[in-house]
Amino acid sequence: MLVGRIVGKTATESFNFEVTGIIRKMDFVATRDPERHWVLGRIDDIIQQEDQTLATVSVLGYVDKDAIKMPRMPFKPNSFVYKADDGLIKRVLGLKATGLYIGLLDGSEGLKIYLDPKQLMTKHMAILAKSGFGKSYLAGVILEEFIEKEIPAVVIDPHGEYLTLRYPNKKQEEIKYMPVFDVKPKGYSKEIELYCLDKNLTEGARRLKLRGKLTHQEILDMLPFRLTSTQLSVIYTSVMDSEKQEYTLDEIKREVIKNKSPSKWSVISVLDLLKSTGLFDTFGYITPADLVKKGKISIINLKGIEPDIQQIVVYKLAKDLFNARKMNKIPPFVFIVEEAHNFAPERGFGEAISSRILRTIASEGRKFGMGLGVITQRPARIDKNVLSQCSTQVFLRVTNPNDIKSVTESVEGITKGLEAQIKTLPIGTACVVGAIEQPLLVNVRIKRSEHSGAPASLTEKFKEQEEDADTLYFYPKFLEEDVKKHATKDLEKLKLVYYPLYCLRCKFNTPEGEKIDNIYVDGFSGELVYSKNDTLTRTSGITKILDLEMKEKAVALFLTTYGMASFDTISKKLKIKDTQLMDIIARLKKQGIISMDGMEFKSNINANFEEILENQITETTVAYKYAGDAISPKLKKEIATKILDIFNPDAVEKKLCYYPYWLLILSDGTVEVVDAITGEKDEYLKSSNFIESLKIL
Ligand SMILES: Nc1ncnc2c1ncn2[C@@H]1O[C@H](COP(=O)(O)OP(=O)(O)O)[C@@H](O)[C@H]1O
Ligand SMILES: [Mg+2]
Repeated sequence: MLVGRIVGKTATESFNFEVTGIIRKMDFVATRDPERHWVLGRIDDIIQQEDQTLATVSVLGYVDKDAIKMPRMPFKPNSFVYKADDGLIKRVLGLKATGLYIGLLDGSEGLKIYLDPKQLMTKHMAILAKSGFGKSYLAGVILEEFIEKEIPAVVIDPHGEYLTLRYPNKKQEEIKYMPVFDVKPKGYSKEIELYCLDKNLTEGARRLKLRGKLTHQEILDMLPFRLTSTQLSVIYTSVMDSEKQEYTLDEIKREVIKNKSPSKWSVISVLDLLKSTGLFDTFGYITPADLVKKGKISIINLKGIEPDIQQIVVYKLAKDLFNARKMNKIPPFVFIVEEAHNFAPERGFGEAISSRILRTIASEGRKFGMGLGVITQRPARIDKNVLSQCSTQVFLRVTNPNDIKSVTESVEGITKGLEAQIKTLPIGTACVVGAIEQPLLVNVRIKRSEHSGAPASLTEKFKEQEEDADTLYFYPKFLEEDVKKHATKDLEKLKLVYYPLYCLRCKFNTPEGEKIDNIYVDGFSGELVYSKNDTLTRTSGITKILDLEMKEKAVALFLTTYGMASFDTISKKLKIKDTQLMDIIARLKKQGIISMDGMEFKSNINANFEEILENQITETTVAYKYAGDAISPKLKKEIATKILDIFNPDAVEKKLCYYPYWLLILSDGTVEVVDAITGEKDEYLKSSNFIESLKIL
């Protein structure tokens, strides 16, 4: 099909043409060079002018015997430009005709796109998109192809949506399009093996039990938070005298009980938590060889399982599978992780028990034939180390600016044009980067089997919520037993509440280079919060200067940072004229922001920025709550940014974080507030109106 004629200046590697046919960005076109070769090109850009439409083309080359060559003479103006035929595209791009069939090249007559299974197995893959745009659907398509090619896979399935691979697709509106993609309905009941935990056990599923002999390091790794040093020493001293390398949870609990330290109780409670998962057993457990078999896909259904238990499962499974693969006890296979941002979160977005092992597999899995497939709707939230190891990246629509940014930062070859394209991809169209040299737009084929993801219409509302799910929680370390043991008076009531803090991830330029830190702002008072000697400490009065005019702010901050100063010093340092400074000082004094001390001025704001930066809260956050109620902030998120503007670092991302406290209502009617991380009493909260605002008292 003729689509136009070459106009203007031409080169050997690019040309423009006046469009007369129907053509879209990223489409492939063909034209002849002066030596009469058929040359393949790709539309980079299309511009509409008053009287004509112009397209810019990048030249990809022509086929000469078996090699791809670039023209050596510039194209002749007026040459005809055609839509490229499938054969030319296939030959110049070097597209494979076998492998995993995922769909048709967008804009082609029917050119099937195959991914190379070897590449997936050794170089990892990421599927990235907003939710509802077809990630799980595409993963389902790939799993069908794995089965057809007898490639084993283990799938971490937090929403329980992959089981339906067992049944043939019955949706009429999808079956209708099957001939276009050359597929037929088919279920994979024999090949799909479903595993569930005790808690979500369903019919036709096997019980996921893992080998319950654990090293003490494994036990430490699996605890839902980092233990304090005293708690750690309880574990170490308990295992020190023993000859054993591996323990059952009961065995290690017996050792810990013998320990004399009062910290042992919190250790015992986490050991009990591990045991309560019912995940570990000394017999009848599932081995890596059960999970990874030729022609079989194992689905690990984690629907309805608490997030920390999910991470424990992923940690232990990934570790055992990786070790088994290293020792060649199982064949090469692919490990697929849905919602991967929950299992390997980026720094500053919480911590996961499974982070480290997934990072190891991302960097070393290729050597041992363990492929990783990560799926996430928040590319910005997934560990960059993991994402950057995925050499094949498949994008469906991504719109969140942070997500786009993190993708362009960690993936090579994402041009501005491609970036724009990714923002507008329709459902079911994927942009595949890294499979071959050129990014490919693929219309993902219809699944042979049933898909159980949320229907497209329903996901719309859900999508918006998700973009907003910027809430994180600090994990309490000082647990109920600890509180009870430390209480000096009789307890009437005990409650865990979460206090709101805004967390701002900020970039700072330091002599050692750029540094990213979390700065916290109190969600009630707007003061900056930091951690000094194990207690949260707040600035005081900082909110007063928010609405000051620039020079007023400068004077207030100068005095806050440098202590006392005379009129002359302020005027000299800040280069403010005397008459103007007199006005400013009068206004600041009137508002109570500064006052006079002898002949000098001082600030009434208490905020030592150096101290804040040196004593930041370093505790990590997780994406879920342990227990108790979270109290919504009084201040809007914007206020936090305004406060931060005062010392001017770039806030990369803002999130709401909740900090846990125990409220102790004592028998004499008084209230105590105890920091649920450090176990220290908190006098600030006790006297703040936060406590009064709680209805429970
Ligand atoms: N290639 C496709 N062909 C047809 N429908 C699709 C395709 N991809 C996605 N869909 C539709 O979009 C819905 C959401 O896709 P899904 O993969 O579940 O989204 P998510 O990205 O959240 O995992 C599916 O239920 C299906 O109806
Ligand atoms: Mg999904």
